[in-house]
Amino acid sequence: MKLALRRMIALFALAAACAAGAATPAPERIGELVRTRCYTCHGPTGQSSNADFPKLAGQNADYLVRQMFNFQTRLRKSTEMEKEMTGLTGNDIEELAKYFSRQQLVPGKPADAALIEAGRKIYLAGSPERGISACAVCHGDMARGARMLPRLAGQHARYLAIQLRRFAEQSRTTDQMLMHSVASKMTEDEIWAVSYFLSGLD
Ligand code: HEC
Ligand code: HEC
Repeated sequence: MKLALRRMIALFALAAACAAGAATPAPERIGELVRTRCYTCHGPTGQSSNADFPKLAGQNADYLVRQMFNFQTRLRKSTEMEKEMTGLTGNDIEELAKYFSRQQLVPGKPADAALIEAGRKIYLAGSPERGISACAVCHGDMARGARMLPRLAGQHARYLAIQLRRFAEQSRTTDQMLMHSVASKMTEDEIWAVSYFLSGLD
């Protein structure tokens, strides 16, 4: 009995050691995943050059992890991303998120001063009379977000506008209640102004 127990403990210890080993995939594996899976759309450092694909550089790591799991479990629907998440382990996802969140984000250079000003107003004050909350209340004065809340500062304007329209029409299928109540009250001009303003923030 005692021997069996000792064997069991040894087995547990071995299993725990294996799990610990698996918890940190080799840096080469992450490098390879980035090169073979993410590079084409998000670039080598997450500074996507196509504005349909979000920049991942500088994004909050916990938010990235959650979104990757959402794609993997099809909670958030995207044909492109679902495919890219196939076969990735939880550790891969965490390490990819850490990698991208550590990269330097380069903001865009929007130049239309009037549009930037209109966007800034919406971002900081919303429109109380129409029930549009100020974005800054949740995403922060600098639009850097928080652990689970996405950073918006420096993101591609086109990507932001696409997502705002999806929240409005409820086709971003996850955690959308808060954003739906904001985005559904915005006009197309307001969506574009706030996205344009955000794309230039550092
Ligand atoms: C074929 C193009 C393509 C490839 C390759 C790709 N992605 Fe994406 N990614 C997208 C698109 C498109 C979206 C936006 C999805 C949507 O909401 O429609 C996205 C969104 C994301 C998001 C959500 C970001 C946010 O701000 O919500 C994360 C995280 C992400 N991708 C990580 C990755 C990682 C990590 C890889 C490599 C393992 C990868 N992607 C490979 C196209 C791609
Ligand atoms: C009450 C809190 C709250 C307010 C106010 C709010 N947001 Fe959000 N926003 C969120 C949450 C939570 C998410 C994450 C949703 C998810 O996990 O899919 C989010 C996500 C987003 C995204 C998706 C980002 C990405 O990388 O895919 C955009 C764009 C966005 N918000 C823009 C705005 C704008 C613009 C405003 C103001 C007009 C605003 N938000 C106001 C809570 C808020």
